[in-house]
Amino acid sequence: MDMVKRPRRLRGTTTLRKMVRETRMDKASLIYPMFVVEGKGIRHEIPSMPGQYHYSLDLLPAAFEEVVKAGVSSVMLFGIPDHKDETGSSAWAEDGIIQRALSAGKKYVPELYYITDVCMCEYTSHGHCGVLKGHDVDNDNTLPLLARTALSHVEAGADMVAPSDMMDGRVAAIRKILDENGHLETPVMSYAAKYASGFYGPFREAADSAPSFGDRKTYQMDYHNGKEGVKEALLDVEEGADIIMVKPALSYLDIIRRVSEAVQVPVAAYSVSGEYAMIKAAAMKGWINEEAVVCEAATSIYRAGADVLITYYAKELAKYMEEGRIG
Ligand code: PBG
Repeated sequence: MDMVKRPRRLRGTTTLRKMVRETRMDKASLIYPMFVVEGKGIRHEIPSMPGQYHYSLDLLPAAFEEVVKAGVSSVMLFGIPDHKDETGSSAWAEDGIIQRALSAGKKYVPELYYITDVCMCEYTSHGHCGVLKGHDVDNDNTLPLLARTALSHVEAGADMVAPSDMMDGRVAAIRKILDENGHLETPVMSYAAKYASGFYGPFREAADSAPSFGDRKTYQMDYHNGKEGVKEALLDVEEGADIIMVKPALSYLDIIRRVSEAVQVPVAAYSVSGEYAMIKAAAMKGWINEEAVVCEAATSIYRAGADVLITYYAKELAKYMEEGRIG
């Protein structure tokens, strides 16, 4: 056979395959999402997300320690308050659930990096991501509430804030209030290209944040659109976003690629609750090899152009990366 080019040559041994890998990953790029609830002694498994838990404040520091032990350096916090109202006022309360989670975290596990999700949907009685005008979310009247929430998170100890509401202009509003209050160094990670997705289903059960009427399609993006994702990313960079996020991840690898080529800031991808639940459920049924699929899915997200990965499998992935199974 007269063949000079034989691609298989570089696949001959593990050493060689690892040498020529195109995608390199590091556990330092992982962020682990966690859910905090009111109450005492609570460490309840979330039914739609086996292996993920609701933690009350007293059990949170131990959970943070487990994250550190697993080799993950950063968490993203979601709060589920007891009190909900029309405007979501417990989102910016000084003694709100996230604010208290941050003080506990900073006090007992200061080595962890704390990012908070900034949104109204867990805090509003109607479950939408802002205040209502009729049956729709009022963009401009929601901005000051998001800004106020972001500021209260930072004042309670958040190292970074991540607005996920998809209102126009919210990155600028948050940057402005943080700067005016002297928090010049606190980065904003914007959920920039966030699609209206069926993959958020398990999260909404976990966060008790499903809208009580309608859907989120007037603010989250239509999944038929790619250019629009790039537009949102570019706008948020202009408004001062330090990191741009694409969400969900697996059905949006093309968006991750396009956004990562269009912006000059790090790109994060959020592998959301539905992605986790699908892998977990199939694994529990014995239909797939969980570790193999988790590694392959995560690698595809980095290969598409993500620099940072937010995933419920962060602890497992940190181990796989550390042991050189991927990365
Ligand atoms: C809040 C928010 C959601 C998620 C992150 N922040 C839910 C939504 O937009 O409905 C989804 C995360 C996941 O599914 O893992 N707006």
